[in-house]
Amino acid sequence: MTNKEDLFKKIVAHAKEYGFVFPSSEIYDGMSAVYDYGQNGVELKNNIKQYWWKSMTQMHENIVGIDSAIFMHPTIWKASGHVDAFNDPLIDNKDSKKRYRADVLIEEHIAKIEEKINKECEKAAKKFGDSFNKEQFLSTNARVLEYRTKIEEITRRFSDLMTRNDLAGLKALIEELGIVCPVSGSRNWTEVRQFNLMFSTKVGSVSEQADIIYLRPETAQGIFVNYLNVQKTGRMKIPFGIAQIGKAFRNEIVARQFIFRMREFEQMEMQFFVRPGEEIKWFEYWKQTRMKWHLALNIPKEKYRFHDHEKLAHYANAATDIEFEFPFGFKELEGIHSRTDFDLKRHQEFSGKKLQYFDPELNESYVPYVIETSIGLDRTFLAVFSHAYTEERLEDGSERVVLRLPRILAPVKAAVLPLVKKDGMPEKAHEIMNILKQDFQMQYDEKDAIGKRYRRQDAIGTPYCITVDTQTLEDNTVTVRERDSMQQERMPIENLCMYIHRNIKPLEL
Ligand code: GAP
Repeated sequence: MTNKEDLFKKIVAHAKEYGFVFPSSEIYDGMSAVYDYGQNGVELKNNIKQYWWKSMTQMHENIVGIDSAIFMHPTIWKASGHVDAFNDPLIDNKDSKKRYRADVLIEEHIAKIEEKINKECEKAAKKFGDSFNKEQFLSTNARVLEYRTKIEEITRRFSDLMTRNDLAGLKALIEELGIVCPVSGSRNWTEVRQFNLMFSTKVGSVSEQADIIYLRPETAQGIFVNYLNVQKTGRMKIPFGIAQIGKAFRNEIVARQFIFRMREFEQMEMQFFVRPGEEIKWFEYWKQTRMKWHLALNIPKEKYRFHDHEKLAHYANAATDIEFEFPFGFKELEGIHSRTDFDLKRHQEFSGKKLQYFDPELNESYVPYVIETSIGLDRTFLAVFSHAYTEERLEDGSERVVLRLPRILAPVKAAVLPLVKKDGMPEKAHEIMNILKQDFQMQYDEKDAIGKRYRRQDAIGTPYCITVDTQTLEDNTVTVRERDSMQQERMPIENLCMYIHRNIKPLEL
């Protein structure tokens, strides 16, 4: 197992052990790609939602939110193109009977070659020590160059086959690259077939007369079909945006990597309606604005990168992903797309209703163009959580695991700990709890030695531990221990609320 795989396993185990994320239906042996958030997970998730929601609606006077239903008229998914084209190319291995996404098999093959380049680099760095020049090595080493050429060649062919929807070509490429089934080890593959990712169900009380409806695979369409309702009732003037947070459902076949790829997940999406012709300016604006949002979490900028799409979907005229370096490598965290007037025009066509905007400044009506920002809440959770997970060796030789979460996102802001369970300390601690819980999510803990209790709070990322001791009973002061530095300071109880407020600052936007 590589260090990264090992670290990822520890992160997943930590998430379960400390009440952040549980496998769904665990006592029935679980359900693949479905997860439940526990008592700490739901707080962290809500705090992330709030950070996004405020940054969109409160910080932008021209953006408002909605909460549309998960069930929508089935024709919406015809109009959006999801019924006909929201597919993944699947391939089965005849020996193991396991099903894979053909595109993922090829992507993983490319990732393996990239891993070889990293290994060459690590070897050379060890050999040359301080004199090692990574950039020069990567641009001159013969083996690295050979790997690079291979990657470029495969990527070019792969992207061409995907664009042309050439399923036979994908199978041929898998065979040519010698990709084997990870379970059976064989190359005995079926043809590649398209598989629609939408879940369907029936609405109506009598099954024969029931209509098929879909669980929404994205929240965006709920915004598009409500765009005129919001524009009219909110007297919104272009440019304006509509934001939404909500569940989406996809029948993902490759269900791995924990909460990175789930069948039921949450999206935080915003559609920004602009004048035709001004979309690229706004696309650039949102690209930069969204990156600033990520960086305000105080995660180093090296962990993020843009991946501009070279081949664009037929409805887009610019698109980029913000990728994050998860423990298993750089992967998409957020998509920013200039979607033209595609969706609104299609809904006009399929519904027969006009979805135009009258622009008083231009004195003309038009269908607005749309810039979309779409981020996965669960992926953001995973990014924040995995980056915060830190194993530390302390000066006294002991070890601790601490979640260095941005304080504003921490599930519990402060814990109150009576040093001992007697002499009136628990009562005093409860008094403090009663004052602070009006403002903050708090926890009271009196079990075990104080050191153990500090570790428990470190493990869930609590920024402050307030300890009640003998002196507290004499002069109404407590010690406050800070999570990251583990420094303690003494202060009057009456200062606590102000102190925590001052230190748990909102993230700067
Ligand atoms: N409306 C545009 C849209 O849905 P997308 O790239 O398919 O675009 C947007 O999804 C974001 O939703 C992704 O960047 C990712 O963060 C998240 N996402 C997509 N599929 C997901 C899944 N199966 N599990 C968790 N998050 C997912």
